Amino acid sequence: MTDEAQRIIDDTFDVLVKTYAPQPVVMDRGQGCRAWDTDGKEYLDFAAGIAVASLGHAHPALLETINTQAARLMACQASYATKEKLQAAKILVEHSCFDLVYFSNSGTEGIETAIKMARKWAYDHKGHDCHEIIAFHNSFHGRSMGAASLTEKCHSQPYFGPYLPGVHFATFNDIDSVRALVSDKTAAIFIEPVQGEGGLAVADQAFMNDLRALCDERRIALVFDEIQCGMGRLGTFFAYENWGVEPDIVCLAKGIGSGFPVGAVVAKGEFGAVLVPGTHGTTYGGNPLACAVAATVMKELLAPGFLENVRATSALFFEGLEDLKRKTNKITAIKGMGLMVGLDTGVEIKALLRGLQDNGLMATQAGKATLRLTPPLIAGKAEIEDALEIIGKTLAETE
Ligand SMILES: Cc1ncc(COP(=O)(O)O)c(C=O)c1O
Repeated sequence: MTDEAQRIIDDTFDVLVKTYAPQPVVMDRGQGCRAWDTDGKEYLDFAAGIAVASLGHAHPALLETINTQAARLMACQASYATKEKLQAAKILVEHSCFDLVYFSNSGTEGIETAIKMARKWAYDHKGHDCHEIIAFHNSFHGRSMGAASLTEKCHSQPYFGPYLPGVHFATFNDIDSVRALVSDKTAAIFIEPVQGEGGLAVADQAFMNDLRALCDERRIALVFDEIQCGMGRLGTFFAYENWGVEPDIVCLAKGIGSGFPVGAVVAKGEFGAVLVPGTHGTTYGGNPLACAVAATVMKELLAPGFLENVRATSALFFEGLEDLKRKTNKITAIKGMGLMVGLDTGVEIKALLRGLQDNGLMATQAGKATLRLTPPLIAGKAEIEDALEIIGKTLAETE
């Protein structure tokens, strides 16, 4: 690293609240699936801002949309209709089982919205005492007080308490553990179909079927957090399509903006309808620029061949990793789905991430020790082959 890069890192962290440990790299620019640091070193970006840059970096359609829309209209009161908001909302509704859309600025805000929506729905339809929520061990739903209350980590962070009352944690893929927590007070169940931060566990088909049946039987709102796993990441537009199980509410963010901060909550009419004027809102949510971006990203995801390519690239990646697993004795598990991939290895995770970075591959950690690979959804055979080569080389070099 050059002295200049070190100075930028030191000066930045001098003036930042230290919510993150500094990385020994200053990122400078990106193009497609690659990114460069200020020293000119090239990386294959298989982090993509943690499943954010779905169209990769500097995608021409996105640049065109941002330039055109920024010059036309960026801000107006959230109460106004705009062509951009209509277009983005219609794409979501027309390509899903949902009826109503709420735009947020981030995933966490979407989760807060879904908590309020589910609780108000339960209050209106089931009574004032029905406010409890079931989430899962190893969940991650965000860091605001509501979202943090549904994130199991809150148990190790007592200094932020008290958290939301009435939140219970069940075991992922264990329907009996959910049944044991359900009562007449249960308003909603929140689940990530593929757990992101928790370590890339994938929900079983039978578990999803049972969860839907349980929610129908007990009149509980089923909320899917697709913030990380939705919008093409699993090879389908919405993640829920993979299980053929329809949730009542879905939260989206990350990939829907491909780098631009935007999120959405999409709901069945009965659920979305409970939030009426005065109950919820946001200054920036649904602004014309964010909606224009979201519409452009979604049109790209839905273009002929795009999602097929995600599925084909995913198949190549998983096959290549299986092959690597056979050749090296260091991979202990291959996890995840689509282009949301996890590797457990015998190598210490921080050393592995450092080695990959040194060898030109950006990746992230999930759970206690899982290597997470979330490439841009435009990645193809060439990028997968390059990534597999770097992973194999790094595993061989690292203890
Ligand atoms: C599954 C899931 N839910 C919620 C969030 C929070 O989203 P945001 O960071 O956009 O607020 C994240 C972010 O990593 C996530 O992966």
